[in-house]
Amino acid sequence: MMTENPEPLFKLDKYQRAAKFESPFYQQDILSVSQFSKDEIDYIFHRADEMLDMCRRRGTCDLLKDYTLACVFYEPSTRTSSSFISAMVRLGGRVIPITEGIQFSSVSKGESLIDSMITLEQYCDVIVLRHPEIGSSATAAKYVQVPIINAGDGAGEHPTQALLDLYTIKSEMGTLDGLKVAMVGDLRFGRTVHSLTRLLSQYDVSLRFVSPDPLRLPLDLMNDLIDKGVKVRETNKVADVIENADVLYVTRIQKERFTDLAQYEEVKNYFEITPELMEHAKQKMVVMHPLPRVGEIHYKVDRDPRAAYFRQVQNGLYIRMALLAAVLGQA
Ligand code: NCD
Repeated sequence: MMTENPEPLFKLDKYQRAAKFESPFYQQDILSVSQFSKDEIDYIFHRADEMLDMCRRRGTCDLLKDYTLACVFYEPSTRTSSSFISAMVRLGGRVIPITEGIQFSSVSKGESLIDSMITLEQYCDVIVLRHPEIGSSATAAKYVQVPIINAGDGAGEHPTQALLDLYTIKSEMGTLDGLKVAMVGDLRFGRTVHSLTRLLSQYDVSLRFVSPDPLRLPLDLMNDLIDKGVKVRETNKVADVIENADVLYVTRIQKERFTDLAQYEEVKNYFEITPELMEHAKQKMVVMHPLPRVGEIHYKVDRDPRAAYFRQVQNGLYIRMALLAAVLGQA
């Protein structure tokens, strides 16, 4: 439950902080991809490269040994929560994990999100938050001093996933510019699609959107892309995009966001990426998925070298290490 407290806290703006510390993210909330400039994205990617190198050479370090992360998930998660925990542990920090015990926390007694956040900030230096309501992280960020990292706010955004997706595209394809990216699946409720689309719109890419009619990309997002001059096309058949796509970004139909389950039943088996379909794809392309998959990609595709979804999972660790170090001023 979200209740508005009357007076939001004052926070220093990012340039006041950046003047003192090298990281442009020092003590900043990470709420939406709209906050990132291209230079800031490069900065995070550069730090992620360093984290990858450190993990391969040593595995852990003590960069964040004086810091504690509260990892708070009001919705299910495997990758996002465990990669944030692993990121903090590999950097020598500590974690308060509230990831599987919401029913044992005071939320189950009806405590508001803001009261829970104000409580947790007394014990930690940064909060990672996943919550089912759009805008929940932004609201929480108004009332706590420690940085809030949005790990998914309902059907809104998932900025850290988008950063790791973009990092994966760049490392797999060698560049971002000139790529044809096809987004497939639940474009209406899929927050990873919303964030990645916004992030990609800063680059010279063309975007193809493939979904059943009821799950098309939200109109405001589509209009923003058109206003920015991004080349976009919509279709409801994967066959229309498979031959030309450099990146096929596949997503799950977000069952939990449907108010009418009969509508979910109609679209749930809408498509599947199979080895036969992959025969029509370019030799140099990648298939990505934020995971979990529930039937959108056949398991046999996993053996195809173009299947990048588990490499994508690994990149999530380095990006989240980079982000934690950056917001705590240790990057
Ligand atoms: C996604 C999410 O939670 O939005 N998963 C993730 O964080 N890797 C995608 C999904 O749940 O379908």
